[in-house]
Amino acid sequence: MSHKTALVTGASEGIGLEFCKLLAARGYHLILVSRRQALLQEIAQQLEERHPGIRCTVIAADLAQPQAAETLFNKVKAQQLQVDFLINNAGLLQNGFFVKLSLAKQEAMMQVNVVALTCLTHLFANDMASRKSGHILNLASTAAWMPIPNENVYAATKAFVLSFTQALADEMAALNSGVTISALCPGYTATKMMDNPDQGATLKISSDMMMAPAVVAEIGLSGCLAGKVTIIPGLSNKFVTLLSHLLPKMTFAKILGAFYRKNLV
Ligand SMILES: NC(=O)c1ccc[n+]([C@@H]2O[C@H](COP(=O)([O-])OP(=O)(O)OC[C@H]3O[C@@H](n4cnc5c(N)ncnc54)[C@H](OP(=O)(O)O)[C@@H]3O)[C@@H](O)[C@H]2O)c1
Repeated sequence: MSHKTALVTGASEGIGLEFCKLLAARGYHLILVSRRQALLQEIAQQLEERHPGIRCTVIAADLAQPQAAETLFNKVKAQQLQVDFLINNAGLLQNGFFVKLSLAKQEAMMQVNVVALTCLTHLFANDMASRKSGHILNLASTAAWMPIPNENVYAATKAFVLSFTQALADEMAALNSGVTISALCPGYTATKMMDNPDQGATLKISSDMMMAPAVVAEIGLSGCLAGKVTIIPGLSNKFVTLLSHLLPKMTFAKILGAFYRKNLV
């Protein structure tokens, strides 16, 4: 059983919480990161009880704050923890007409989805490369593959994550760094993100169109540990990303725009 350490951002619920359960079952020590410290502490206690031998450390952080990644990295170092597996999972979503959505919330989304993810990757990838071993898994989305009207900034942040991760995977291999880096591209997944009043609007779609977060996390984790760079869970999500290559971008954008405007409430 492995006793390496994994740091998961957005560990308090959704796909992030499922990553933590799976990693704990594989014997990883965990560093759980999100804003809700008390909830993370409860989760840490439950995981330690369920998986004797693993150690969970809670670090509360608001990744929408500038410098949050550096502060988090310094806290990990101050506790003399070594991160063998980084999962940049925390993410925010805003739905609606760009000009009508709060600019502050869009900025927070870019900070969490793009800036914090990039900074954490830089800090921990360097550390891992110096030890010639490590894994990084970045949460992109099927939204990364296409422009999505009425969810346009979110889709653009995920396009950044996908492009950044794919290119960095090649760089890390060229450096013989021993560090693998992967992008996970889930489609609709049944978490709070699919029904969160703080996100401008909610996309009303049938639950049949959503995957379970535990399934998404398992596919992401095993794909990353197997060294896959781009991981797309589920056949229908693979089909959507294939369509994004076949259709002109603006044709796809028009179809998606009509779908989102009909189903956002
Ligand atoms: N659900 C989907 O359909 C779907 C599809 C494709 C991709 N994804 C991606 O998958 C990832 C996880 O999504 P999810 O559906 O599991 O989301 P979720 O259920 O809404 O959970 C989001 C997590 O991020 C944390 N978080 C939010 N803002 C934060 C901040 N400012 N600082 C630190 N942590 C923060 C939350 O914890 P606190 O509230 O405790 O801070 C929570 O643990 C995201 O990157 C998302 O974009 C999701």
